[in-house]
Amino acid sequence: MCGIVGIVSKEDFSSEELLMMLKKLEYRGYDSAGIAMSGSKLYMEKSVGKISELEKKLDGKITGKAGIAHTRWATTGSVTQLNAHPHADCKNNIAVVHNGIVENYLKLKKMLVTKGHKFKSDTDTEVIAHLLEDHSPEDVMKTIEGRNAFLAMYNGRIVAVKNGSPLAIGIAKDRYYIASDALPFLEKTRDVIFLDDGDIAEIDEKGVKFCGEQHEPQRIDWDVEEAKKGTYAHFLIKEIMDQPAAIENAATQNDEKIREISGMINNSFGSFFIACGTASHAALSASYFFSGIAKKHINFSVGSEFPLQKHFLTDRSLIIAISQSGETADTLEAIKAAKGENAKVVSIVNVPGSTLMRQSEYSLLTNAGPEIAVCSTKAFTSQLSVSLLLAYAATGRLDEGKKLLKETSKKVKEMLTDAYLMKIKSLAGKIADKEHIYIIGKGFNYPIALEAALKIKEVAYMHAEGFASGELKHGVLALIEKGVPCIAIVADDETKQDVINGAAEIKLRGGYIIGISPDNNDIFDFWIQVPDAGNASPIVNVIPSQLLAYYLALERGCDPDYCRNLAKSCTVK
Ligand code: G6P
Repeated sequence: MCGIVGIVSKEDFSSEELLMMLKKLEYRGYDSAGIAMSGSKLYMEKSVGKISELEKKLDGKITGKAGIAHTRWATTGSVTQLNAHPHADCKNNIAVVHNGIVENYLKLKKMLVTKGHKFKSDTDTEVIAHLLEDHSPEDVMKTIEGRNAFLAMYNGRIVAVKNGSPLAIGIAKDRYYIASDALPFLEKTRDVIFLDDGDIAEIDEKGVKFCGEQHEPQRIDWDVEEAKKGTYAHFLIKEIMDQPAAIENAATQNDEKIREISGMINNSFGSFFIACGTASHAALSASYFFSGIAKKHINFSVGSEFPLQKHFLTDRSLIIAISQSGETADTLEAIKAAKGENAKVVSIVNVPGSTLMRQSEYSLLTNAGPEIAVCSTKAFTSQLSVSLLLAYAATGRLDEGKKLLKETSKKVKEMLTDAYLMKIKSLAGKIADKEHIYIIGKGFNYPIALEAALKIKEVAYMHAEGFASGELKHGVLALIEKGVPCIAIVADDETKQDVINGAAEIKLRGGYIIGISPDNNDIFDFWIQVPDAGNASPIVNVIPSQLLAYYLALERGCDPDYCRNLAKSCTVK
């Protein structure tokens, strides 16, 4: 949901440096991009489309000692050049880039127009630039409503304001970097300050000064090489192929901490797994893992719905929030609601130092490394791995859980051969022109049917729906016509026969059955073999669907790394 970056330096630096940083945030939005550099006068350029379009426009290098840039995921105001950030005040002295929604902007704009301010765009952001003409950043932060973060550049310095959306400052020897997350500057410095809500920092060539308490930087040890495509054509396929290592890394946790958290879960009452998007499918899986393995009931809710269920919470409730970014606004709002009812918060997060991590009593890192493709793959399997580990630990069988994950990682590695990939590519070629695709699963693999459908929707723009196989007869069968592809996820467990029966009902109505299963079956028109992984079956079973989504995207001419209309980190509600 919009990426913002800034640099303040003692020496002149080039606009290219800002764009290099911005490109690392392109996963946050790619409707339009813009830059402002502070030299002898304010230089500003904007362009509709990806950052590469802006790059073409910046005819040669622009230099300055301070600069800000923005990649947009449109919320207020359509996708036009005028609405692209940065936005300036009446005199073109103040440039602002912003992430969030100023919920009361219409009222503020009306007031500012009455006072004689001239607006050039339809965005909410522009009110910030005009407000800063007459008010301090502190007052502006208090005036604007909603979850927001912005950088305002004036008089050769940058003011960073965080109240909802994320911001991090990187401290290097001769430069200060500011960005929506630390990834854009980790190659330059590992010393990072993560801003808290309500923080205002003024950054000039002499240093970083907070209004109020000064913050000390912390060291971040992410492997930045992992945020590169390497020899792969796209981040998505790279991240799918990273999964054997991701599963193993997720299983490498501090045993004591895992035992402590699983103990807290056991002792809690009226608890919830909560998350959004792909992570919500991991949260639903976690609920199944706890029920099936630990015999403990834990509710599940998506982040945006959870605040409406908070009335069931007590001080014995535990909220286990799962998130790749740790910045999803709906998830953060959910834990805020839970805390308001005195519930405790544990999180399973991928990005170290993220807001969710800092706002939780306890946190487990999934250790999947940077995930860049907008649609989530390795973060998902690592979330499943950590949840499975917790369920085993909750019954005192942590070592068994660790062994299972180690074996699963090995099996996935052996599965992902070139021939395997080519087989799924051939399937994508067969079904790429279809309008609909349905996926059925049951028990541990019901959330996987939902996740498989989400992958195909997100990257291949194909209508895909996942169902519990038992629900077919309650309506879904009406959708089956001759030749409609249907994926049946058949695990070798108590659900096997039910899912096969469901597939048979679809087949006799003309459906084309794609089986994801350890064993072949006469009912399958196309069989994708997966290893039998016991209770870890969801981890292996999701991978063929991720690959299918990738190859369907290529067949249908979609960019697998950038999903239309979506952003990786949804920092607005
Ligand atoms: C967005 C992304 C999804 C992601 C979801 C939750 O919708 O496009 O890929 O699953 O947010 O993100 P989180 O960072 O909380 O896991």
